[in-house]
Amino acid sequence: MSNIRVRQTRREDIPALIALQTRIYPTIPPWNKLDLLTQLEKFPQGQIVAEDESGLLGCASSIMVMWDDWTDEHSWYDITSAGTFDNHNPDGRTLYGVEVFVDPESQGQGVGHLLYEGRRQLCRAMNLKRIIACGRLPGYREHAADMSAEFYVRKVIWGDFNDPVLSFQLREGFSYFGVMPDYIPEDAESCGYASLIVWLNPDYEPDLPVVIRDDISFRI
Ligand SMILES: CC(C)(COP(=O)(O)OP(=O)(O)OC[C@H]1O[C@@H](n2cnc3c(N)ncnc32)[C@H](O)[C@@H]1OP(=O)(O)O)[C@@H](O)C(=O)NCCC(=O)NCCS
Repeated sequence: MSNIRVRQTRREDIPALIALQTRIYPTIPPWNKLDLLTQLEKFPQGQIVAEDESGLLGCASSIMVMWDDWTDEHSWYDITSAGTFDNHNPDGRTLYGVEVFVDPESQGQGVGHLLYEGRRQLCRAMNLKRIIACGRLPGYREHAADMSAEFYVRKVIWGDFNDPVLSFQLREGFSYFGVMPDYIPEDAESCGYASLIVWLNPDYEPDLPVVIRDDISFRI
């Protein structure tokens, strides 16, 4: 793919993002305009999109959290305050991946990789310790009658199964550390499960402060 760039999300992207999200998750309610505006106000640096000359191709959305507050079981609705980002905590040293999606017509061409690279650059630029996310497991439903979600994930890690999301995330350098039940209960493909994954920032300097700048530019 050529001419793709990653940049911070702008208010004028909102209608296209809602349309894209509705196409990607027909059975999961999309964000509404007010939620997206609030997300941009609370943590503009954490909201990024990929685009080319044809328009928006995908987005990645993040908040900052104190991970120790969230190690118990929680749902997507809990940690994101139902998409309002009230739990965004600028004192936290963990960048938490709230959402990532790519236009179905552009998937498998490296857009997701560029968005993940954008997130890693953000984590480094802000001197955050790590990225944590709960990833969907859309390949699980097909195997749910035969095995637990934990065993399904092990088989993905062993290379016996390919999961459209987890296999991608493992190849992006994330490590798996557990399964979260009832993360998005409406997510029938994943039977509500999500995998907990983490990427550690190799450049993290614990003695230096978090850097919050308006002008984070992506080298993509
Ligand atoms: C998960 C998702 C974001 C990945 O985005 P993507 O743009 O398809 O990701 P990429 O193209 O970078 O990588 C996907 C695969 O395509 C392959 N690929 C990348 N560029 C390629 C190219 N030029 N030619 C052939 N294959 C390529 C990658 O190797 C990767 O393979 P893998 O999954 O076996 O590792 C996307 O599939 C998506 O939006 N899914 C639906 C929404 C969703 O479930 N999001 C996750 C929320 S937790």
